[in-house]
Amino acid sequence: MNILLAGASGQLGRELRPLIEPLGRVVGADRDVLTGDSNTLEQDLADRAGVSSLLLDLQPGLIINAAAYTAVDAAEDDRDTAFLLNAELPEQLASWAARHGAWFVHYSTDYVFPGHATRPYLEGDSVAPLNVYGESKQAGEAAVLESGCRYLLLRTSWVYSGHGSNFALSMLRLAAERETLSIVDDQHGCPTWARNLARVSRDMLDRVLPQSSDDLSGLYHYCDRDAVSWCEFARTIFDAARSIGLLENVPTVKSITSDEYPQKAKRPAYSVLDAGLARRIFGIEQSGLRESLVACLEELKRARR
Ligand SMILES: NC(=O)c1ccc[n+]([C@@H]2O[C@H](COP(=O)([O-])OP(=O)(O)OC[C@H]3O[C@@H](n4cnc5c(N)ncnc54)[C@H](OP(=O)(O)O)[C@@H]3O)[C@@H](O)[C@H]2O)c1
Repeated sequence: MNILLAGASGQLGRELRPLIEPLGRVVGADRDVLTGDSNTLEQDLADRAGVSSLLLDLQPGLIINAAAYTAVDAAEDDRDTAFLLNAELPEQLASWAARHGAWFVHYSTDYVFPGHATRPYLEGDSVAPLNVYGESKQAGEAAVLESGCRYLLLRTSWVYSGHGSNFALSMLRLAAERETLSIVDDQHGCPTWARNLARVSRDMLDRVLPQSSDDLSGLYHYCDRDAVSWCEFARTIFDAARSIGLLENVPTVKSITSDEYPQKAKRPAYSVLDAGLARRIFGIEQSGLRESLVACLEELKRARR
């Protein structure tokens, strides 16, 4: 089976690659190809004609879309590009999958929710995004649901890894530059290591692919287990980094409100996802924040040696 991995060079794409390689011949596509990666094609995924010919050539039996426009603030001024990547690309891939009987794996975000809940969000809860990124991801979800393809649509949150641009790496960089950091303490969510999300994706595929279990096609939540604020996340990052000797001087972390840190895009105050459905249907257990962070940072430390 040929497998198209869109967004192969991103945080999640990089983690997915080795895990899905045993399932077939993986061809990646991204606008940047990582050095030494001869199995990824340089492709602007916003180019509909280019994506069509890629699909025609490859005839994938499985399409995994880890590509996205993830710059939440930049999306406010770049609505068209955000929708091209986050809505039109999944629509194109899902409708191709529907026509050709392929499985489609796609990812969405906690930012489809408005953030007023008092308990973790369930898959069926009403969506009402507060920002353009969330709107574009919600449009992508709707396109997948309407396409008629067999899909695994995974909503996740606050993704970090040892690569790319993410909060954990930003905190480590800032720790080297400043003695005090002011971090927002009134937005809560579940930080998720891209590796854990990749593993969960593979576990789900192991269930659906062999029996072609169409009845398991659906929308699921997966995030790592522990809900924190950005401020608590920063403290956990510094604590984990110091415990493994990755960071010597830990900055003082000062708690501030969202109003004290104005950002272009509005964010939900509470976007914790309930991952109970994935646990009941697929037996997926959520990984803990600290153990995941330590494992991620240990790898980072080894890579920096
Ligand atoms: N990151 C988070 O905190 C977060 C939270 C919730 C949900 N999610 C969802 O999880 C999924 C994976 O996210 P991630 O964090 O792995 O994202 P990521 O690191 O930003 O990876 C996305 C990849 O898509 C590429 N891409 C963007 N525009 C492209 C284009 N026009 N043509 C070709 N490639 C393009 C990116 O390239 P560039 O790096 O050059 O842009 C990047 O390699 C996405 O669906 C995202 O919406 C992420």
